[in-house]
This record gives sequence, structure tokens and C-alpha cells, in this order.
Amino acid sequence: MEATRIPLVAGNWKMNFDHLEATYFVQKLTWLLRDAHFDYTRCEVALMPSFTSLRSVQVLVEADKLRIRYGAQSVSVTTQGAFTGDVSADMLARLGCSYVIVGHSERRKYHPEDDANIVDQVRAVLAAGMRPILCVGESFEERRQGIELEFAVGQVRDVTRDLSDTQASQLIIAYEPVWAIGTGMVATPQTAQDAAQAFRDELRESFGAQVADSVRILYGGSVTSGNASQLIEQKDVDGFLIGGASLDVEELSRIARLTVKKTR
Ligand code: PGA
Repeated sequence: MEATRIPLVAGNWKMNFDHLEATYFVQKLTWLLRDAHFDYTRCEVALMPSFTSLRSVQVLVEADKLRIRYGAQSVSVTTQGAFTGDVSADMLARLGCSYVIVGHSERRKYHPEDDANIVDQVRAVLAAGMRPILCVGESFEERRQGIELEFAVGQVRDVTRDLSDTQASQLIIAYEPVWAIGTGMVATPQTAQDAAQAFRDELRESFGAQVADSVRILYGGSVTSGNASQLIEQKDVDGFLIGGASLDVEELSRIARLTVKKTR
């Protein structure tokens, strides 16, 4: 990755860990990273717990001044009112969230989250002063047809089309090919690089070089400590969104340390 972009290693816990397990995990992760003299200025580490654990994580991070960041896995598109079960962006911002995952393929699949809804989530997150981690990526079918890049770049274009340059500069994009999520079939470093480069080219065309060069592009899909080093060596890959491996605290700390090591 380029030296000017600080890499981000983000753990997407999905629907795992209650608040007690989350508390224990955060403590253990910070001990492991402290013992390894981890340099947070060279790699950001963020966790995305369930809504129910966010307050516990916040209290811990603030009380002990931990350098770990955290965020949510989805957000309502409305600010308040009669929307049973929803959580607003302002509520998340008040809990100290830095990030919100938007458009994860599991949300697109199991909930009525189409492109229009995803655009609204991105806007809601930005308006509340947080950064969206926008997930895009083709399914196996698009890959079979050879239209994977077109498809994934199209998703980026559809969601970012009406954003201002300032808004776009706040985005983080995660390339998450659906066939790689939770399957153990990680994309090759070249595949991850091709997608990240194509997204950056798209951003350059729409928002100019400054935005394109500053937006971090993550790879997600079966990332482990066994494949992270080769992936982070790619010029346009700026970190990871990690599911399964982020539930193992030793493994997540290994990935974070490998990411620092490979960053100039
Ligand atoms: P995985 O999930 O690392 O378990 O493949 C990644 C994700 O869904 O963000």
C-alpha cells in the first residue's frame, strides 16, 4: 500500500459475542498489541461489535484511553421516530463510533437494503460525523461471466454518484467478493489489487486525484494471518475487513502486526 494512507484492520464480528465477551476481547487484544509494541500510528485497529456491546466497548476504551477504534455493522437511514428496532447514526456517533459498515453482502441478502437505501445509509453516517465502510463485490455468478470488475465498480459508482468531493473523501471502500466471504476461498493478491485499482480509477474520474489517493480501500473475504502479508503488499490495498478471523484475538493481533510490518 502507499505510505500516505494509514492501513485499517477492521474486525466485523457479525452476530457474535455478547457484551461480556466483547469486553474481554478488547482487553486481551490491547494487551497483546501492547506486548508487541504495536505502533497504532502505522495501522488503525477497529472492531465492529453488535449494537448491544457498543456501550461496553466505549466505556472501556474511554476509561483506559485505548487506541482501538470501533463502529457499528449497520444503521438506520432516518434520524428518529417510529421505526421500531432501528438505531440512528446520531445514537452511534454519541457512543463514540468512528465507523459504520454499510452495504455488507449479508445485509443486502437478508434485509431489504438496495442501492438507494445504501446511499441513504452512507449519507446518514457522514452527516453524523462518522465514516462509512462501504462494502461492494461480485458474486460467483458475475465472476463466472467475467463481469466482476464492471459489476463491483458499478456498485461503487451507484452509491457515490451524488456525493460531494468532501463526502467522498470520508469513505472507506471494502472489496468483498461474495464468494470469498466465510468460504476460505480468499481472492488472490492480484484480484484484490485489480479491484482496488479499478475503484481508485473510478474515484479519480468522479472526484479527482486528491480524493482517489486518500480513500482507503480494504479487502475482505477469508483473510487470515496466512494470506494477509501478500494482500497488504499490493499497491492499492490499504487494509482488511475481517469476519471469521476477527473472532480469534490472537489471530486478529497477528494480522494487525503483519499489516504494520508490511507498511513502509
Ligand atoms: P470472512 O468475512 O473474513 O469471515 O470471510 C468477511 C466479512 O464478511 O466482512
